[in-house]
Amino acid sequence: MANQGSLIALILLSCLVAICYGTVSFSSLQRTLIVTGSPQTGQVLKGGVDKITVTWSYNTSFPAGTDSSYKKVKIMLCYAPISQEERAWRKTEDHLNKDKTCQHKILTTPYKPSNNTLTWTVEKDIPTATYFIRAYVLDSHDKELTYGQTTNTEKTANLFDVLAVSGRHLSLDIASVCFSAFSVVSLFVFFFLEKRKAKSQTK
Ligand SMILES: *[C@@H]1O[C@H](CO)[C@@H](O)[C@H](O)[C@H]1NC(C)=O
Ligand SMILES: *[C@@H]1O[C@H](CO)[C@@H](O)[C@H](O)[C@H]1NC(C)=O
Repeated sequence: MANQGSLIALILLSCLVAICYGTVSFSSLQRTLIVTGSPQTGQVLKGGVDKITVTWSYNTSFPAGTDSSYKKVKIMLCYAPISQEERAWRKTEDHLNKDKTCQHKILTTPYKPSNNTLTWTVEKDIPTATYFIRAYVLDSHDKELTYGQTTNTEKTANLFDVLAVSGRHLSLDIASVCFSAFSVVSLFVFFFLEKRKAKSQTK
């Protein structure tokens, strides 16, 4: 009986270790990257058309060598608080495996402390919303170590908008244009028939 108890305890403990080890909480990450993005505050970028330039570098205020375990940088497009309101599917969670703030990956690339620039055309499937850009530093196991972002901690500064011009909307537009044209034509046909009926009745 005692053995069974300790076995269960052991299993529970190893589960706990696995959960804790596998989960990185955002609040534990230091902001060691300086990230800047080209969009101006409030700028509206069109999906499939407009480009974003992102630059990032190691903040040398942190001790030299701290970045020795940095292997990759993952650049993400993230929802600003205003575009998360009443949308559970974009909710911010401290545990990064549950966090839905940053859903659109721009690029993952090997880590370099300086001279990093990328230009990215906003993809057509990016939903219309307000965004900022965040970069995660990953270790050799793709675990988040530190981060950097284009906005302040409160996520109120340097936010920009994306206006989606997706194919789905285009086909919906075409469908509604066709439908309107059909209604107009039907109206004329109806009018014409009515008039003809009226004429034949007066004869
Ligand atoms: C670099 O890090 C220091 C210490 O955290 C911070 O005070 C400073 O604002 C950072 N520099 C930039 C450009 O973010
Ligand atoms: C960064 O780029 C500048 C100009 O292109 C170059 O002079 C400098 O050596 C580069 N620095 C690093 C660390 O690659």
